[in-house]
Amino acid sequence: MNAHIGRGEGDHRVAVYPGSFDPVTFGHLDIIRRAAKQFDHLIVSVLNNLTKSPLFSVEERVELLREITKDLPNVEVDSFRDLLVRYMRSKQAQIIIRGIRSVTDFEYELQMASTNRQLDEGIETIFMMTNPKYSYLSSSIVKEIAKFHGPVQDLVPPAVEAALRKKYTGDRPG
Ligand code: PNS
Repeated sequence: MNAHIGRGEGDHRVAVYPGSFDPVTFGHLDIIRRAAKQFDHLIVSVLNNLTKSPLFSVEERVELLREITKDLPNVEVDSFRDLLVRYMRSKQAQIIIRGIRSVTDFEYELQMASTNRQLDEGIETIFMMTNPKYSYLSSSIVKEIAKFHGPVQDLVPPAVEAALRKKYTGDRPG
C-alpha cells in the first residue's frame, strides 16, 4: 500500500466530509465523530448549491454543524461553491469521506467517487458504513416528519430539533 495515500504536507492527514446537511442528522454526526478519530483534521463542508432550494440556508447549516461539533477540536466546518476536487486542493485535503447507508446509496456514491478520481487522481474517497441504527435516516425523512410536527428528537441533535421547530412554527398540518 502506498504509505502516502491521503497524506499531505508533513504527514498531516486532512479529510473533507462534504454534503448538503439540510439539516445534519445523527447519522451524519456519527460519521463525523468516527472520521475525526481517523484523521488529523476533518473539514465538514456544506455545498452551497444555487440550483437547489434548501430548507436551511448555508449559514444556518454551517452554524448548526458548528454547534454540534464544538466538542471536536480537530473538526472545522466550512462551505464551498465549487467542484469538490478544486475546493479540496485549496484546503490541501486529499481524502473525501462519504457515509453509505445501504446498497441503494452505493451506485450514486460510486459514480461520484469515480468522477472525482477522474478529475483528480490524487484524491481518494473513503466510505464509512453508517451506524445501522441510522441506516434508514435521511435529512429528507427528518424534514418530512418535522413538517407534520412529528417527533425528531431521536433523529437529530437538540439544536437541530429546535431549529426545525422554529422553521415549521405556524405551519398547521392539513
Ligand atoms: O449530501 P449530498 O447532497 O449527497 O452531497 C453531494 C455532494 C455535495 C458531495 C456533491 O454534490 C458534490 O461534491 N458537489 C460539488 C460539485 C462537484 O464537485 N461535482 C462533481 C462530483 S459528482
